Amino acid sequence: MKKEKQSRKKPAKGVTRRGFLTGMGTAVVSSAVLGPVLTSTQAETLPPTRPKGLEDISLTVNGITYSLAVEPRWTLAEVLRDHLGLTGTKIGCNAGECGACTVILEGKAVYSCSQLAVWLDGKKITTVEGLASSGDLDPLQRAFIEHDAAQCGYCTSGQLMSAKALLSRNLHPSREDVQRALTGNLCRCSNYNGIVEAVLAASK
Ligand code: FES
Ligand code: FES
Repeated sequence: MKKEKQSRKKPAKGVTRRGFLTGMGTAVVSSAVLGPVLTSTQAETLPPTRPKGLEDISLTVNGITYSLAVEPRWTLAEVLRDHLGLTGTKIGCNAGECGACTVILEGKAVYSCSQLAVWLDGKKITTVEGLASSGDLDPLQRAFIEHDAAQCGYCTSGQLMSAKALLSRNLHPSREDVQRALTGNLCRCSNYNGIVEAVLAASK
């Protein structure tokens, strides 16, 4: 039987057989991974790619309206911290138990780790960064400083937001009102008395 003559590409002079084969392999892998190479004109005419599954929402945070594309699984706490850079809101348990992540949503104190951002399209949110105005601390923040209400400080932004929500609906709360309003905010430093004194002082 007549053998067909196979044409074999020969390594160029000065290139070892191993080096030649490695180079061929890289070229095959590159074209498999990268696909066809586009000219710069073709690349310019492609529409911008957007990751699948994002939902468009708008949030007004501390008076600024943001248009955001969010994944349905993102919590409000994640969006505030990781996408808007508002890291004053802390994440403690991330399970709706400690209150470190408390923010004010439409006038009510809520756990931002327990709210999905997609639920909040068009809503107004206040975080601890929104308490001071024109560089002046809120009276509540000043009272926290004067009464040493912050120890390590990790729970402080959540405590401030729960207290702010209380004072917005009740300007002169009793001690019991303050204790009840802060029930959902744990303080690992156990500085509860200092925190309650600060809120009562701010209400005067
Ligand atoms: S971090 Fe949200 S309740 Fe603990
Ligand atoms: S001040 Fe440390 S956890 Fe409250």
